[in-house]
Amino acid sequence: QTATSFYEAVGGEQTFHRIIAAFYREVANDEVLRPLYPEEDLGPAERRLRMFLEQYWGGPRTYSDERGHPRLRMRHMPFKVGPIERDAWLRAMYIAVSEIEPEVLDNEHRKQLLDYFEMAANSLMNSPF
Ligand code: HEM
Repeated sequence: QTATSFYEAVGGEQTFHRIIAAFYREVANDEVLRPLYPEEDLGPAERRLRMFLEQYWGGPRTYSDERGHPRLRMRHMPFKVGPIERDAWLRAMYIAVSEIEPEVLDNEHRKQLLDYFEMAANSLMNSPF
């Protein structure tokens, strides 16, 4: 019996790399999101998000090896995440995911991924405005 993870089913490392690279390209050009990131170099933040998502979807567990328990709500407390920030984050992520071809990411997996991002972004909001 072989159980294929979501991670493997959508193309593994290469797909996650492409999505998160495109996401941070959007962040770098977004006037709502860019000021939230404390470091000038977005590379380390890009790597953290990629490792987290790879682990979440059944890939390598490097995130927890390096960062421990994700505690994402706590780790977002230093940044104001209201509806404007959530919408900007989701917009950037939707653009990034839309760049992955349907041959790589079929409709069912695409919907699962986008539903997850919407749920996760809502759950990380820490400001009503
Ligand atoms: C870290 C913003 C949603 C996962 C961060 C950081 C910022 C940020 C400014 C710090 C950058 C850094 O790591 O140096 C936001 C905003 C969001 C959002 C404005 C809008 C809702 C999400 C979502 C996820 C996520 C939906 C997961 C699906 C992460 C992870 C880190 C992070 C894994 C690194 C945590 C660590 O330090 O290990 N985020 N984020 N974020 N974010 Fe978000």
